[in-house]
Amino acid sequence: MKIYAISILLTFILTSASAQWNHYIKNEEDVPDYELPKLLKSNSGKKIKTVKRWEKIRRPELLKIFKQEIYGEIPEELPIKDITIIESNGNAFKGLAKRKQIDLYFENEGKSIHVGILIYLPKNATNVPLFLGYNFYGNHTIADDVDIRLTESWVMDNPSFGIIHNQITEQSRGVRTNRWPVKKILKAGYGLATIYYGDIDPDWNSFDNGVHPLLYSKGEVRPRSNEWGAISAWAWGLSRAMDYFEQDTDINARKVAVMGHSRLGKTALWAAALDQRFALCISNNPGCMGAALSRRKFGETISRIAYKFPHWFCGNFKKYAGMEDELPIDQHMLLALIAPRPLYIASAKEDLWADPRGEFLSAVHATPAYKLYDLPGLHITKMPEVGKPVMGTIGYHIRKGKHDVTDYDWEQFIKFANFHFKE
Ligand code: GCU
Repeated sequence: MKIYAISILLTFILTSASAQWNHYIKNEEDVPDYELPKLLKSNSGKKIKTVKRWEKIRRPELLKIFKQEIYGEIPEELPIKDITIIESNGNAFKGLAKRKQIDLYFENEGKSIHVGILIYLPKNATNVPLFLGYNFYGNHTIADDVDIRLTESWVMDNPSFGIIHNQITEQSRGVRTNRWPVKKILKAGYGLATIYYGDIDPDWNSFDNGVHPLLYSKGEVRPRSNEWGAISAWAWGLSRAMDYFEQDTDINARKVAVMGHSRLGKTALWAAALDQRFALCISNNPGCMGAALSRRKFGETISRIAYKFPHWFCGNFKKYAGMEDELPIDQHMLLALIAPRPLYIASAKEDLWADPRGEFLSAVHATPAYKLYDLPGLHITKMPEVGKPVMGTIGYHIRKGKHDVTDYDWEQFIKFANFHFKE
């Protein structure tokens, strides 16, 4: 009888805990009142009214908070040790493109990683502007092209893609072509460079693989609580790709658009905030700790993300679980760090987990930083209708459908890049 009562009680506790866990804010009327931290007021209370003050005082202050409390500092410099041009084929992709495959090699303290960059460039073009974005399952997944090398890094299992025991197989070739309209990009006059994000840091809660161990001091087994989680590591990797582009005359390194989806959309924002060589940033469905305002607590919250993906952030971040209003920043400040460079945020109507309205409002609240530069930022404050993109120095759209990257999204990214790169 006693055991029976205990088991009923336990079932009750567990189901109500999981019901709570499954509950998240999906309706606008459930969003709590909140007050955003002031973008244009320094820590010491100074009003920031000029570019000079923004760049000298406020921008460094905000950058420091994001480094120390959210994504983590990169502990030291780790330059590329060796670049190998694995191949360069002027007649790839059915004669449409030049394909290059590059290997960046990093080594320190007896540990090393290899990072593979796949690059498609419009045939015969030199000095081309380029989109740079990470992929989730390996470079070979983004195009139907048998000559793309297979990564040997750890890859997240996905049996429907033929990825089991964290190893890719031939079966996964081309499984993500839907997200990468290579032809469309080439025809518009852009190159495309992509890297498998797990070459930099495998996406699971462990710090003994990927790039992190290369920068441990003696005896260290994980980064300190203010040091880099995976998002900072991935952002670091994008900057090393940029180091390579600066040496490749086929590429116009002054016109590189860093692009990413979801966790990699969060990464693209952080990379652009850290590295001002990225001339433009595109963040697709970045959601919580990407573009969405945390204080709205809509969709994914800090508790959820810090519990499920602790390795994305620095150790200090977890203290904000359930404490959104205590955060010294909110995500509009991350977007503002990208000013004055063009920034595009894309949401999807059914992607409530990522809080489309929160992504939009973040762009609205980042706009005052662009205004300091006499740039319009986002020139609307009311959310546009589905399928009605807005192009300013900040661009935004919400499309119909789910969390994904579609041809429609890419068409807007290309228009946005044309608008800023070809004017
Ligand atoms: C999860 C996570 C999101 C993230 C997404 C993705 O849904 O909760 O924060 O953006 O994965 O990267 O696909």
